[in-house]
Amino acid sequence: MKRVFSNIGVLTTATGSVAVSGKAQSAVQTTENAWLLEQNGSIAAIGTGNPPAADEAIDCGGKLVTPGLVDCHTHLVFGGWREHELAMKLAGKTYLEILAAGGGILSTVRETRKASEDALYQKTCGLLSEMLAHGTTALEIKSGYGLDLETEQKQLRVIRRIKERFSDVAATFLGAHAFPEGMDHEAYVEWLCETAIPAIAEDGLAEFCDVFCDDGVFTAEQSLRILNAGKRYGLTPKLHADEIKEIGGTQAAARVGAISCDHLSETGADGIRALRDGGVIAVMLPATSFYLKKPYGDFRGMIDAGVPVAVATDMNPGSTPNLSLPFAMTAGCLYGRLTPEEILTAATLNGAAAIGMADRLGTLEPGKQADLVVWDAANLDQLIYRYGTNRAAAVYKRGMRITGKENLWND
Ligand code: NIG
Ligand code: FE
Repeated sequence: MKRVFSNIGVLTTATGSVAVSGKAQSAVQTTENAWLLEQNGSIAAIGTGNPPAADEAIDCGGKLVTPGLVDCHTHLVFGGWREHELAMKLAGKTYLEILAAGGGILSTVRETRKASEDALYQKTCGLLSEMLAHGTTALEIKSGYGLDLETEQKQLRVIRRIKERFSDVAATFLGAHAFPEGMDHEAYVEWLCETAIPAIAEDGLAEFCDVFCDDGVFTAEQSLRILNAGKRYGLTPKLHADEIKEIGGTQAAARVGAISCDHLSETGADGIRALRDGGVIAVMLPATSFYLKKPYGDFRGMIDAGVPVAVATDMNPGSTPNLSLPFAMTAGCLYGRLTPEEILTAATLNGAAAIGMADRLGTLEPGKQADLVVWDAANLDQLIYRYGTNRAAAVYKRGMRITGKENLWND
């Protein structure tokens, strides 16, 4: 089966199969009047002028085409919502004050423990369907709203079911998201290392292990213990760090050989050096900064220092209930001071690298998977500039349309 995507006004893509930084982060390829030939889910060829013959022809209407977006940091499986926190936020309570009052992550933990696996699965399918409609074609999903084995496994089984249906979903164990109410902190760290991680790894439920390393949550030393335990069981380390305060999370990320270090809105020059020396990808989450009214982080300093920058939504019910990666791209571009080209690379190639998928995803090049978005925009600048409404006109995964009438979820 061959499909040809013809009449592409502008095809814009990063190139390569590894995370890029510095000048390479902005070196995207732009081809006007292009076509793309897909065969059996992969890109067979890209060219300009007259398109080759194929079994099916898809007219892209002279619009912008980019690789499918890769959302490399989400908390998509959770019970309940937290709109009641909006009033507390508006009254000036901080994220940590809400958490300390038994709200925040802990209130989602209570809701997630109560929800059945099927209810969580149905809810996640709905959220994913909205996410795909905004141009995301691969993603990572974390657990972390159980803080006990039964619920963490339930979340991870939901992620596995999503992955079986959709593919290109990375699963991350985030048991170290908060301390369960009333539990001694050291005892919880011990339990994560000795009991939870071995059980999760044995069931093959996760590929990555993550820790919320920050002020009032897990220390750098505890994070290292947990991530090293994960490594012993084959889980690749990731961290949430420097969201509230720098407490050594970037240094821990470098020491443990983390694939990515995420949030980084408070990271200074030493942290940036640690990430660069450790070869760690910086995953920036500007939609979270927007919703928490917090600093955005030094995206520019990271790229200039040679740290590859990725961008993701961080979709979760507390700090950013936003499913749109294009919104995060616009926020990252404006407040992180990146060019549209740099932010596109962040949301595609570097995002894919942050979840170990850059060998097959993140760019439009022969041999890569035919995951692409036709945008209702004439060029990349217009996509970034016309934020606030959904510009994804059609989204394709392995050459198959997954939005619109042929929505993947309408079976
Ligand atoms: O990445 N920072 C920690 N965890 C999430 C928030 C989770 C929540 O508030 O439910 C985040 O922002
Ligand atoms: Fe997060």
